[in-house]
Amino acid sequence: MSDQLPAAKRWFTDGKLGVFIHWGIYAVDGVAESWSFFDGRVPYDTYMAQLDGFGAEHWDPDAWADLFVRAGARYAVLTAKHHDGVALWDTQANDLSVVKRTPAGRDLLAEYVAALRRRDIKVGLYYSHLDWSHPDYATIRPAGQDPDERGNPYSMPATGDEDPARWDAFLAFHRAQLTELLDLFAPDLLWFDGEWERGADQWRMAEIAAFIEERRPGTVVNGRLTGHGDYATPEQGVPVEPPPGPWELCLTINDSWGYQPQDDHHKSPRQLVRVLAETVGGGGNLLLDVGPRADGTILPEQADRLEKLGAWAARHAAALYGTGRGLPHGHFYGPSTLSADRRTLYLFLFDRPNEYAVVRGVRNAVRSARVLGSDTPVRAERVGGLGDVPGWEYLYVSDDQLDPLCSVIALDLDGELDLYREHTRD
Ligand code: GLC
Repeated sequence: MSDQLPAAKRWFTDGKLGVFIHWGIYAVDGVAESWSFFDGRVPYDTYMAQLDGFGAEHWDPDAWADLFVRAGARYAVLTAKHHDGVALWDTQANDLSVVKRTPAGRDLLAEYVAALRRRDIKVGLYYSHLDWSHPDYATIRPAGQDPDERGNPYSMPATGDEDPARWDAFLAFHRAQLTELLDLFAPDLLWFDGEWERGADQWRMAEIAAFIEERRPGTVVNGRLTGHGDYATPEQGVPVEPPPGPWELCLTINDSWGYQPQDDHHKSPRQLVRVLAETVGGGGNLLLDVGPRADGTILPEQADRLEKLGAWAARHAAALYGTGRGLPHGHFYGPSTLSADRRTLYLFLFDRPNEYAVVRGVRNAVRSARVLGSDTPVRAERVGGLGDVPGWEYLYVSDDQLDPLCSVIALDLDGELDLYREHTRD
């Protein structure tokens, strides 16, 4: 993965915040998306009977999109098809869709895409390569797997039942659905998942990547297109050492991807702000997941958190959107970002400073310092240092300047950021 995306895809690395939506029939009973039958917690037939209860009765895609705007999200990613194989659009490749099989009876993707486009939010579609409902899916094993191993029947054939011709039929089905997604919805981003049960050669990932590039050049593709994506996809935890190229952290707002009514373990607005700052400071994006109910409504606890995150992001927009990764570890005890012209450094303060915050190892002179949002000035004092060796920059921040969630100090530098990483005198 290269460090910078080509210009047509730069909206992604500039955008910083996306909303992830796991919405499907699993919301009817409030069970884990797809995994609940795969892991044997719910019989397959019981799981699929949720089709009859999926109504999307109160779904208002424009209300979703308005909420995403208020959340400060620049893109959204909806589960077009999860591992259970149920498509949210009117696929012609098989009959397993909410359009044909549920009381919702509508093409949810078409409406979602239209609502996002009306607000200039970039359109992302999640698509699971694997399909635990498709009859031709569990027909081959990953290369090298012991043929006597009795794997999960949804993903592996029984001993002696390998059938490469049926696997080819599955790949043709996969291609047909992918073609529909590209042609009908022209997504800005394809968010693949479910690649782990087969090797890249078996999936023919190189062909899939070439197909997307030819059919809709400029589509951003995540890394779960083994070996071919535009960016890495760490999940549920901010990497302490940020990955080198573009990346995106996907994170549940509580502990579940989809709607599970017993899960009230929501991250607080302050915790979410912290994750966003840590992520963006490391050069990544945050893809924050919500799990709407089967009727299409988003829980107030989840909507409220999106709103609060968005209000903070709006107050601190300059430190987020369009910035690049900040200082390497050691210069400042917290995340930081750098403006695109590399002349303004943004320092994120989670804690109340004990009189001052300090940044060190920056050669530039600080022209001015201010607290973003309140736009109040900060007194900056250079202490120590000698010649080429910078000392410490003390930044005096008073309590009344602090943001309740996280404060950001903007330092306007006298030129492009110039770091001191050496040490003198061995
Ligand atoms: C995990 C979950 C899956 C979810 C995905 C999102 O792999 O098992 O259900 O869709 O994360 O990245």
